[in-house]
Amino acid sequence: MKIILLGGPGAGKGTQAKLLKEHYNVPHISTGDILRANIKQNTELGIEAKNYIDQGLLVPDELVVHLIENRITEDDCKKGYILDGFPRTIPQAEALDKVLESINDQIDIVLNIEVSDDSIVKRMSGRRACLKCGATYHIDNNPPKVEGICDVCGTELVLRDDDKPETVANRLRVYHEETKPLIDYYTNKNMLVTIDGSRPIDDVTHDIISSIERGLN
Ligand code: AP5
Ligand code: MG
Repeated sequence: MKIILLGGPGAGKGTQAKLLKEHYNVPHISTGDILRANIKQNTELGIEAKNYIDQGLLVPDELVVHLIENRITEDDCKKGYILDGFPRTIPQAEALDKVLESINDQIDIVLNIEVSDDSIVKRMSGRRACLKCGATYHIDNNPPKVEGICDVCGTELVLRDDDKPETVANRLRVYHEETKPLIDYYTNKNMLVTIDGSRPIDDVTHDIISSIERGLN
């Protein structure tokens, strides 16, 4: 099962990817999580990516394409994977097509999680993230069992640096300009299903799984 999750910042890609990972038992590959882990470890990639991420801009295509190319050709991806936050530009989608073609593989379905810009702004201010395992919470909609602590790994939760209101506005602008064209790209390939991401988390998961099952039969 090879899935792409599309959607604006805060649409719920990470939240749904974590649940789908359990359901389908395939790796969850989030370029955002990988880049944040690199920033935390102060790697060369992390140092380069941090400037872009902190401003709400996309990191250059070649950096993420290289990263994904290496990741999806690893052994644990043979049975499938969930791509969260990649591709995010037309050149990234074209590069992914090329990689898949070279290994004679393809994506099964592209799920576009749709949420209004207003709801996104509200979600971001209440989000708390675990920078260790990538789990995401919301202080009202999806709180951790113990306030401020990750349910999965016990790490202290933080407000992501790029969730400041001015950075969120930039991320939304970048989403509309650079990522939204992917909706047409995958619609034209007959691969895209749009999901109403404004519903409660479990309802969104249910809609996603139904779409996947329908798409496969
Ligand atoms: P990334 O980490 O991918 O950020 P993003 O796309 O902006 O998305 P988010 O992670 O902010 O949101 P999400 O959709 O995962 O929502 P979540 O589930 O957390 O990327 C960060 C940065 O890295 C980018 O800005 C860029 O600089 C760089 N980058 C990454 N990939 C790149 C690429 N391919 N190319 C170039 N640059 C790249 O949910 C949000 C909140 O809402 C949470 O609090 C959650 O609990 C809550 N919530 C979720 N679902 C619901 C619901 N149904 N109802 C109510 N609340 C909900
Ligand atoms: Mg995310």
